[in-house]
Amino acid sequence: MHHGYAKSIASLERAKRSLAGGVSSNVRAGDKPFPLYFERGMGSKLWDVDGNEYIDFVLGRGPLFLGHTHAGVIEATCKQLQMGQIYAAQHELEIELAERVCRIVPCADLVRFGISGSEAVHGALRLARAATGRKTVIKFEGQYHGWLDNILYSLGPDPTRAGEWDHPRTLAESPGQFDGEESHVVVLPWNHLPTLEQYLDQHRGEIAAVITEPVMCNTAVIPPLPGFLEGMRELCTKHDVVLIFDEVITGFRLSLAGAQGRFGIKPDLTIFGKAIANGMPISCLAGIEKYMRLIAAGKVGHGGTYNSIPPAVAGAIATLDALEQDEHAAYAAADRAGLALVDGLRGLAKKLNLPLVVQGYGVIFYLGFPKQGVALHEGQAITDYRTSLTMDQDLYSAFVSDIVGRGVRIIPRGNWFLSSAHTDDDVAATLEAAEAALIEVVVPAYEKAVQA
Ligand SMILES: Cc1ncc(COP(=O)(O)O)c(C=O)c1O
Repeated sequence: MHHGYAKSIASLERAKRSLAGGVSSNVRAGDKPFPLYFERGMGSKLWDVDGNEYIDFVLGRGPLFLGHTHAGVIEATCKQLQMGQIYAAQHELEIELAERVCRIVPCADLVRFGISGSEAVHGALRLARAATGRKTVIKFEGQYHGWLDNILYSLGPDPTRAGEWDHPRTLAESPGQFDGEESHVVVLPWNHLPTLEQYLDQHRGEIAAVITEPVMCNTAVIPPLPGFLEGMRELCTKHDVVLIFDEVITGFRLSLAGAQGRFGIKPDLTIFGKAIANGMPISCLAGIEKYMRLIAAGKVGHGGTYNSIPPAVAGAIATLDALEQDEHAAYAAADRAGLALVDGLRGLAKKLNLPLVVQGYGVIFYLGFPKQGVALHEGQAITDYRTSLTMDQDLYSAFVSDIVGRGVRIIPRGNWFLSSAHTDDDVAATLEAAEAALIEVVVPAYEKAVQA
């Protein structure tokens, strides 16, 4: 039985009087049906202040690969908290974590820890520019690398302002971003090697780095087309450009060694956050010795009061323990639940005769509804930002509002995160709720369009 949202509504009203917009991140303001208030999480479940229970596929927007309140992570964190929170000095646990990451991650000869993914991206860009003596960075349309000024461009640009698909304009996402900075960020379409090749050929000696999510998780969970990442690697090597994999989402999720482990491609620098510590705040900048030695030698600046805080490091070590346990059984569990959902959603598309797009992996996948009149062929996928614009975002938002009311919490952008805590029962209950929400919201929308 649904208990309504009375307490959440009251809390949001109260919050708005002191907390800007009632939320602590603009992203959360877009939650559907509106920003809810939660008081407890355990395993795959989350409970809100009104007593509603949810099967959670938001999972902190990625970190909780082992589910909420994982016993091993909590125990290790609490144990360390009793020994002190912050020393502003070195401690043995940070060496243990650094050694573990260097052992696991192909490109990690040396690492530094921080708190957020955004600041680790900032460190990688600074390092690439310092190492090459060049200014320009290439990023891809539709990808997100954190909210800092120097890279917050063209995540979800208005297509009427974004230029030609193969020559996108670099568009700031927020007023107040430093005017002029965009001249140092070039935006290209993802999954299209010829445009990258042409750009690098025409701008020899000008490009410091190419930064990419190795799977485009922030738009439609788009996998790399065969040969795309391999080609990118070759081009960066040829032009002596630093290749940065932003693995804030894919890291410790797509495999223990992230996307670089799963696809067998070694970037020069890489960034982790989220799943590395199952909810504790820690990020990691890792890379090959050739570049990281500039930080090691103190030549390139990197700092932070909270870097490597002992409780977070303890939580990260406990997370890696759990991820490595029983021959990576956590990955098999999350993948199994995710693939069962992918199959089930595709089955619902057939049963209800709906043109749903379901793509990605087991551990993270995307669900979207094509706009009316968009003729998608069976099995057709979204391959870049521009093709993602064929999806009906308003219809998806209405679906999210409905399914949240049925006890399934999902992200309004369409990406679903899985954890090793999701069970067969969770999958069955989710598919039941999804069928009801599709019948309530999506079937009538398509029928109306046919009649019109
Ligand atoms: C790929 C990617 N990079 C960087 C970030 C920024 O990380 P943080 O939110 O920890 O600053 C995110 C956050 O969602 C992300 O998805």
